[in-house]
Amino acid sequence: MTTPASSKLVLLGPPGAGKGTQAELLSARLGTPHISTGDMLRSEISQGTALGVRAKGFMDKGELVPDDLMLGIVRQRLARMDCNEGFVLDGFPRSVPQAVSLDDICGGASPGKLRALSLDVPTDELVRRLTERRTCRKCGAMYHLTFEPPKRPGICDKCGGDLYQRDDDREEIIAARLEVYRKETAPLLTFYRERSALVEVQGTGATEQVFRRVVASLGVPA
Ligand code: AP5
Ligand code: MG
Ligand code: ZN
Repeated sequence: MTTPASSKLVLLGPPGAGKGTQAELLSARLGTPHISTGDMLRSEISQGTALGVRAKGFMDKGELVPDDLMLGIVRQRLARMDCNEGFVLDGFPRSVPQAVSLDDICGGASPGKLRALSLDVPTDELVRRLTERRTCRKCGAMYHLTFEPPKRPGICDKCGGDLYQRDDDREEIIAARLEVYRKETAPLLTFYRERSALVEVQGTGATEQVFRRVVASLGVPA
């Protein structure tokens, strides 16, 4: 396992673009942690913490959780030792102010250039991926009823846990999330492009095919 000089990666892309799927594969390949702010928030919700209770109201509507809640948990997570060699950040930053904060967080303890990988997938495909996504309640593994079905319906292949549908994967909430992406997150493409830090990859095709494109575009050793 080789860690290239700059392994600070952020994954950009609309809901359902495959950020979680590709981040998991990249993290295994690079040996750096996969940090998903969505997963962190869902874990706070399932533990019933004060942060989880506040975040749930925004997430259920498909809105962004306010920065005063987000920045603290991201700062804390990135300060952990396992991020010293880099990280694969999935779901953060999601707005230009968050990207500026991330620069600030990374500039302190571990300076080094950050790269942004954007996955491009057409909207009709995003909706198809999200409405049929199922997630394991126990280990977080992800399935798709058509593209990556579990061997036994409703049961995780990896750990035997129950598979569930995320509350925000209903069609009307998906539409709200796509709109938030367009307004708040898509400007990040220009933000990173202007710094020559943007790598754009087509996110359509089978998961393994997308991953081959991702590693080739990032120059990650095979
Ligand atoms: P988050 O959990 O980050 O959700 P999201 O950005 O909407 O993205 P998704 O997780 O839905 O999609 P993905 O791109 O990871 O795709 P996946 O790999 O799962 O955020 C949820 C909420 O939390 C936000 O709405 C917000 O409220 C809050 N939040 C989080 N971060 C925040 C922040 N920084 N600031 C403020 N609020 C924040 O793939 C989708 C499906 O497609 C799966 O079923 C998968 O199996 C399938 N699939 C993947 N790749 C392929 C392929 N190549 N071919 C076929 N199927 C595929
Ligand atoms: Mg995800
Ligand atoms: Zn599982």
